[in-house]
Amino acid sequence: MAQSVIAVINQKGGVGKTTTAVSLAACLHSKKSPALVLDADPQGSAVGWSRMGDGFGFAVEAVDLTSDGAARALKQTIASHDGHVVIDCPPEAKQPAAVAAALADLVLIPVSASGLDVMATKRATDLVLDARSMLGGERPRALLVATKFDRTAIARDMAQMLRGFIGEADFDQLNPDGPAVAATRIANLVPLRECTASGLTIVQYQPKGKSAQEYRALAKEVLKQIKQGE
Ligand SMILES: Nc1ncnc2c1ncn2[C@@H]1O[C@H](COP(=O)(O)OP(=O)(O)O)[C@@H](O)[C@H]1O
Ligand SMILES: [Mg+2]
Repeated sequence: MAQSVIAVINQKGGVGKTTTAVSLAACLHSKKSPALVLDADPQGSAVGWSRMGDGFGFAVEAVDLTSDGAARALKQTIASHDGHVVIDCPPEAKQPAAVAAALADLVLIPVSASGLDVMATKRATDLVLDARSMLGGERPRALLVATKFDRTAIARDMAQMLRGFIGEADFDQLNPDGPAVAATRIANLVPLRECTASGLTIVQYQPKGKSAQEYRALAKEVLKQIKQGE
């Protein structure tokens, strides 16, 4: 049985879902607890990235979360993997994200520092809260994470803006006994784009760089949230 299941969701494209799914998996991965990235995006960005070079050192597999029986198949994959499972969801389509959210311990929602992306985040948080009310418990929890963070006013005021767009009541429910927004923010930095071209994760490309450090800190926060939810 998987140690943790993390779904990376946002209906917006280009917010850093694939970058976050792969980088987080790289930070969670160890021999004892191997990471598995499930690429649910028909565009296959995560699979493509992993095949540009000699591989990430952990598996990246394509999954179809739109078909009949998708939830059952995903359940089986999760049951048969012993480490961490990170699901990279496609933008736009609701069903794959809903299937992933229903089986996730934690839904990670990357939000890039753009007003339009902050506004669109409510679609993802609604999806998580719908999944939770359907399951009738406290799972999945949601954690918003600021990506492509920079010096803009939007980045600075992001948590407050998110609270406004999502609505206070829903915002406060996202993570019942943790923060709705991760303390770790992922800065907008060139190496995160460069590493994709060489088929390397940021941990392989610049293990001591700022981005790898940030994703390591995010991985710690994510594990802590999941533990609290157990
Ligand atoms: N923190 C970041 N700093 C710089 N570039 C980033 C960062 N996060 C993502 N990117 C780049 O932004 C683009 C979109 O990111 P991606 O992870 O593919 O988003 P999504 O999966 O949500 O569509 C990619 O070119 C990626 O390399
Ligand atoms: Mg993607």
